Amino acid sequence: MAVWYSLVDTVLQHFDAEAAHGLALRALKSGLVPRDRKLDQPRLGVELWGRRLANPIGLAAGFDKNAEVPDELLAIGFGVVEIGSVTPRPQVGNPRPRLFRLHEDRGVINRMGFPGHGLDAVLPRLRVRPRRGFVGVNIGANKDSEDRAADYVTCARSLAAHADYLVCNVSSPNTPGLRNLQGREQLADLLKRVQDAISARPVPLVVKIAPDATDDDLDDIVAVCRDLGMEGIIIGNTTLSRPATLRSPRKDETGGLSGAPLAQLATDVLRKTAQRVERQFPLIGCGGIGSGADAYAKIRAGATLVQLYSAMVFEGPPLIRRIKDELEALLARDGFGSVNAAVGADL
Ligand SMILES: Cc1cc2nc3c(=O)[nH]c(=O)nc-3n(C[C@H](O)[C@H](O)[C@H](O)COP(=O)(O)O)c2cc1C
Repeated sequence: MAVWYSLVDTVLQHFDAEAAHGLALRALKSGLVPRDRKLDQPRLGVELWGRRLANPIGLAAGFDKNAEVPDELLAIGFGVVEIGSVTPRPQVGNPRPRLFRLHEDRGVINRMGFPGHGLDAVLPRLRVRPRRGFVGVNIGANKDSEDRAADYVTCARSLAAHADYLVCNVSSPNTPGLRNLQGREQLADLLKRVQDAISARPVPLVVKIAPDATDDDLDDIVAVCRDLGMEGIIIGNTTLSRPATLRSPRKDETGGLSGAPLAQLATDVLRKTAQRVERQFPLIGCGGIGSGADAYAKIRAGATLVQLYSAMVFEGPPLIRRIKDELEALLARDGFGSVNAAVGADL
């Protein structure tokens, strides 16, 4: 298997990053990507929203934007797969190139701008899939929309019945003005409207925020989420900041930075969020995870579930088994019988 992957890796390195991503999706669709056949160790099991997941490692939004391969992604070992962001209408996104690998930094910069097939294409794919495994649906707004909140309502109303949880993504840096929805009043208005839209068929509703949130922003976001009885926060999306340590010649490309250079910032903001949430609802830690130790740091900082995307760009599917084995060893070393027991251990 290792030889298979190093061959694939060598080939993909020669493609532009977005073309490589397209090939990865096609390989998954055609069953060419080997499954993770090892059973997850019981210690990796995690309780979330009254359900039990085999492991806490999730695939972050953006990889399978259009719900083309959620079950194939679960089969390669993820405990959770989040599809999206889905927008009501299809859109092409920003001009290419818009996705850049920062090899020297194990980072990625993207300014995709929500290219996607739109709600009418995604909905039938979710309708026909078997309801096995845990699949979250991440929703967003069209770039040219006049009432952005209405876009979330439209997507939520149609997709809730097919989602194990729903995410309002108000933190993409590549749709101008979208992050304004994180402001106290706008966020409360948006989330209330979405809650009303899914009241007939409630499903855990979470909001995904930017790792660039200030302490004041976090005060507001958490106050709104606690007031409204939200079921979770994902911390977080890509960052507009550029750490001084970046070495790649691509570091000044416009867009959101993700991968290893984001890890510390995202964990710090996760911890601050956890301190404000006081275990009123679960948190999902995302940003720069590339090892079991990275996942463990997020869990100890307050995350019940973690997600990753960029590390997959560099390592491919074998990464998931490696992270699970490393995390299991760390939990065992520190005497935790389950992921839940370790959540917030550093707080
Ligand atoms: C190419 C690319 C596309 C993304 N698209 C989305 C998206 O559509 N919706 C979203 O909520 N996050 C999106 N993200 C952000 C990721 O879900 C994740 O929050 C971020 O990359 C940090 O995790 P990572 O460091 O493990 O990549 C995207 C990230 C990348 C690299």
